[in-house]
Amino acid sequence: MDPTTNLRYLIAPGGVFEGRLRVPGDKSISHRSIMLSAIADGVTRISGFLEGADALATLAAFRRMGVEIEGPTQGELSVHGVGLRGLTQSEGPLDMGNSGTAMRLLAGLLAGQTFPSTLIGDESLTRRPMRRVTAPLAQMGAQILTTADGTAPLRVEPVSGLRGIEYPLPMASAQVKSCLMLAGLYAQGETCIIETAPTRDHTERMLTAFGYSVRRAGARVCLTGGGRLLGCRLNIPADISSAAFFMVGASIAPGSDLLLENVGINPTRVGIINILRGMGANIELIDRRTAGGEPVADIRVKAARLRGIHIPVDQVPLAIDEFPAIFIAAACAEGETILTGAEELRVKESDRIQVMADGLVQLGIQAEPRPDGIRILGGQIGSTDGGSIHAQGDHRIAMSFAMAGLRAEGPIEVHDCANVETSFPGFPGLAAQAGLKIQEQAA
Ligand code: S3P
Repeated sequence: MDPTTNLRYLIAPGGVFEGRLRVPGDKSISHRSIMLSAIADGVTRISGFLEGADALATLAAFRRMGVEIEGPTQGELSVHGVGLRGLTQSEGPLDMGNSGTAMRLLAGLLAGQTFPSTLIGDESLTRRPMRRVTAPLAQMGAQILTTADGTAPLRVEPVSGLRGIEYPLPMASAQVKSCLMLAGLYAQGETCIIETAPTRDHTERMLTAFGYSVRRAGARVCLTGGGRLLGCRLNIPADISSAAFFMVGASIAPGSDLLLENVGINPTRVGIINILRGMGANIELIDRRTAGGEPVADIRVKAARLRGIHIPVDQVPLAIDEFPAIFIAAACAEGETILTGAEELRVKESDRIQVMADGLVQLGIQAEPRPDGIRILGGQIGSTDGGSIHAQGDHRIAMSFAMAGLRAEGPIEVHDCANVETSFPGFPGLAAQAGLKIQEQAA
């Protein structure tokens, strides 16, 4: 991130969350909506698309590979699909910005093309591990060059064909699973992935919505290459990962009563609800319904006295992006919260265990990072002198510490917040509307 365009948040202490609001569209589903509609036959109309930098990077990449896309205008898009074999070579490298999902899923999709591609990203993305996708893709016959450290840039060379494999995932990762499913569309025969734990299944659901057969039996998910996707209509729900900040905010700010509208509650994403409820949160799901193959509901959250818990390990993949926000809830809870089995947090947009521990300690909270988790003892956040936090360019860390202001003794400054734009454009405005005393300043 260019430091001259960076931002900081200034949060005055206190505030109550009230009213109703709708957070932007789901990031994971937005990426997939572009990828699958681009290689479908016919036009796909999408609504609720997240106009954040990450999903827009995916959109730009497909435009550069010859796909006509109208919009986005207020989350509405029309994608003129070119069919499974209709993409064309981009003139220069495809820049995935800050987005691990875009880079890892595209690596799979591009591995099956008849032209070469280069995938690049920003400083954070260039540090993140890519062998987790390039190694199984190589087993399928793909040729992808990385740096000696197994990081981007990725140079994807055309090959004469891919072959389906059976691949037990070494870690719980929807990105690796989805990458291999996308490569599997171009492979001869069947591609099967066996999961260690359930992870988000948006790729499977969306392929089905495009009329492509995906077979699941227990932990095993399979598809056969060479089929056809048919353009369709997609309604993308609000992102539970963005709603999570408000769920935590409303839980920790005394007197709060907030309604979050039309939030995706896919069972592979609801760890945040289960964990907060385990801590004593007051969360109600209202008017459960289905939209575009995904379950949605309105979520009402009232303030509650939270208590620390040992977070069940089976909830970790279901809440993998929500831990920065959960750590703020833990800092406001009575007693200790212990997280284990979450070493994946160290290779997200930042090392989320270390960066969150550093910030919590800075605010006077006892937080001990561990290789695969953290121990947090609830306490008073900050002092009357205020506190200063560095988000290390990680969007979810910036938004989590902004919420801490609701229970802080003094003002909190959060530095390096520009990347909030990757997943949650308009965050400060919406947070202020809910009741957070937040100001955004150029840094
Ligand atoms: C995502 C999967 C998760 C998640 C990421 C989005 C996806 O990553 O953290 O924000 O859209 O498939 P991993 O697969 O690395 O766990």
